[in-house]
Amino acid sequence: MAKKNSTVFVCNECGYESPKWLGKCPACGEWNSFFEEKVVGSTSSSSKDKSKPKAEIIKLNEVEKKETYRLKTGVEELDRVLGGGFVQGSLTLLGGEPGIGKSTLILQICDNVKVDGKILYVSGEESAEQIKIRADRLGIKNDNVLFLAETDIDNVDIAIEKSGAKFVIIDSVQTMYSEDITSAPGSVSQVREITARIMKMCKQTGITTIIIGHVTKDGNIAGPRVLEHMVDTVLYLEGERYFSYRILRGVKNRFGSTNEIGMFEMQSEGLVEIKNPSELLISERDGNPAGSVIVVSLEGTRALILEMQALATQTVFGMPRRNANGIDYNRLTLLMAVLEKRAGMNFSSQDVYINLVGGIKVNEPALDLGIIIAAASSFKNVSIKEDVVVIGEVGLTGEVRSVNMIEKRIKEAEKLGYKTCIIPESNKKLLKEKFKLDIIGVKNIIDAMKYLGLK
Ligand code: TYD
Ligand code: MG
Repeated sequence: MAKKNSTVFVCNECGYESPKWLGKCPACGEWNSFFEEKVVGSTSSSSKDKSKPKAEIIKLNEVEKKETYRLKTGVEELDRVLGGGFVQGSLTLLGGEPGIGKSTLILQICDNVKVDGKILYVSGEESAEQIKIRADRLGIKNDNVLFLAETDIDNVDIAIEKSGAKFVIIDSVQTMYSEDITSAPGSVSQVREITARIMKMCKQTGITTIIIGHVTKDGNIAGPRVLEHMVDTVLYLEGERYFSYRILRGVKNRFGSTNEIGMFEMQSEGLVEIKNPSELLISERDGNPAGSVIVVSLEGTRALILEMQALATQTVFGMPRRNANGIDYNRLTLLMAVLEKRAGMNFSSQDVYINLVGGIKVNEPALDLGIIIAAASSFKNVSIKEDVVVIGEVGLTGEVRSVNMIEKRIKEAEKLGYKTCIIPESNKKLLKEKFKLDIIGVKNIIDAMKYLGLK
């Protein structure tokens, strides 16, 4: 244990503490993420206050569930990720890279959220005028939205109490500071203290609160990951810098499932919900060039139709290159090895590039067969028919293994007008529903390749 007022080194990525500086964090594996911080006694958990109310032990069966349980946000994609809206009195962390659209999304929520009382937007980043310009641009008309530009958490606390707000937004946690902590705003101990203070306030008063946290590579600022364990719900807004799509992902949810995603597009009037992402993601597909195949990924309860592209070209240097965009690099090298060994295709002198179109990252085994087929198609220069969808996990012996929720995936393909669906044989046997499209069951990659004219 570190002594009081001595210093410790804290990982800014995950909050791991060490008495000495370390180059690599043993907990999260991040390099060069340790920064020195003073150890001070936490004020949030002080037991000095004897007059504070004590919790009583009650029977779980007798706990009454309140009527107004969830606050609908008016943004359907967000409501779905949350499992039906913000739970009243909950604390939510919204993380994401700077400029990705966190403040925009939250401001849009302010317009429509069904909260019985005032909404207070506390910003440590922008002035009232800046927020007003944005609010006008987004067409925010809600009269109940209050604004406060403040960074001192003591003042924020007082202001929240005075305003009587029932919905509070703190933008961002890294700009707030507490005078009780000597380290700079944005350091691990500051953001933890701020979050602990907000959590206490939020639980005692039943105010629904959202904290915004920046994900940055700047070593002096603690990432939102160090706060994940403290809050009820963790959402991340993700997206590629050069794409306008944004994905809202639930990473932790004490009141619902976490595997849902919401999709948005950043437009001039703010984030617009994408209700039919599959159509959009494949809308730019041009004919059926070799190396392109349609796959179906499952994000939460929603099936997404995606285009998998591969390019196999002659290696110029001795070492063949593998490049994976949107899928896991190691998965790609593994699948290339399977293709070489089981299908006898010689990729040792081929560079292979894989791209999942649309700037979406997916880590799902059901895309394996798609990667194999796309690579083989590019290698052989044989194109796959436009109306074919490929689904299946591939094992090391080249067998095609079953995937979950197959019917949902097929249904999405059917909805978008695909004619043929190649799926694992083991899945096909268990299909209960009838589909209009042709369903081809394959046992291994050779079966699939033969069917598609690649073998
Ligand atoms: P912002 O919400 O400020 O990001 P964050 O709070 O995550 O740092 O979003 C900033 C970006 O969004 C900025 O680059 C401009 C863009 N944007 C639009 O394209 N349209 C809009 O209507 C708004 C408000 C922002
Ligand atoms: Mg912002």
